Amino acid sequence: MPVLITADLHLDQWLEEGRDPFAALPPETFATLDALIIAGDLADKPKIRWPRLLRHLGRHIDPARIHVFPGNHDYYHHVIDGDDRLAELTAQAGANFAQKAEIAVGNTRFLCCTLWTDFALHGAPAMAMTFARTRMNDCRYIRKTPRYGKIQPSDTVLVHRDHRRWLEDQLTKPFAGKTVVVTHHCPHPELLSDTPSDFDPIYGSDLRALIAKHNPDAWLFGHTHRQRETIEGDTIVRNVSLGYPSEVEAGQEAELLMRGITET
Ligand SMILES: [Fe+2]
Repeated sequence: MPVLITADLHLDQWLEEGRDPFAALPPETFATLDALIIAGDLADKPKIRWPRLLRHLGRHIDPARIHVFPGNHDYYHHVIDGDDRLAELTAQAGANFAQKAEIAVGNTRFLCCTLWTDFALHGAPAMAMTFARTRMNDCRYIRKTPRYGKIQPSDTVLVHRDHRRWLEDQLTKPFAGKTVVVTHHCPHPELLSDTPSDFDPIYGSDLRALIAKHNPDAWLFGHTHRQRETIEGDTIVRNVSLGYPSEVEAGQEAELLMRGITET
């Protein structure tokens, strides 16, 4: 029972360029797929674009088998506390909203959430947050209720803590089958930049202790568009981003998407 997990489709940009990354997959891939999990960054401006894009995905696979949760881009021109609206749009498309959700397929559970970061990757969270306030697009394009002011890094830290707590609670529950964690942000410091960058704490956190404690079978994520992977203890940690169409040469789509195929 295969499940396809992918992230950073930025499908709005692909369709604008007249390209459909899923058209590269053999049709039988979709026929046998039990679930398609989209780990964030389906599109900017979700309130306008998600309905059309989910309809488009529904041409390839029954919407009932699509599970989607937001990345940072899915909050652009929206609010950080607007998951209820995204859930509504997803339900209207006949698909499943998977923020802080466990998806069970076969004997595997997929634990899904955006995650965000703690800005602590380089050991200086206050500095990293000051940098992020001016350099992180999220702080320009994402707002929050009730006053619709722009978010601060401290707002995403709060969401990170909430998601991390949820994840730890789920991982602590005994489960007889396989466990795959699926997040938008990166949980491993070695899968970010080649040389340390001030942007790293915006992209990921060091969750190696959490991985070592709970030993999930895999942890799949996106956000950085760097298709890297490593093994941490018994856990495969793999980036399953597709990326912007400008980053993907024609003919490369299927190979990138298939990185996220998981047998359950
Ligand atoms: Fe992202």
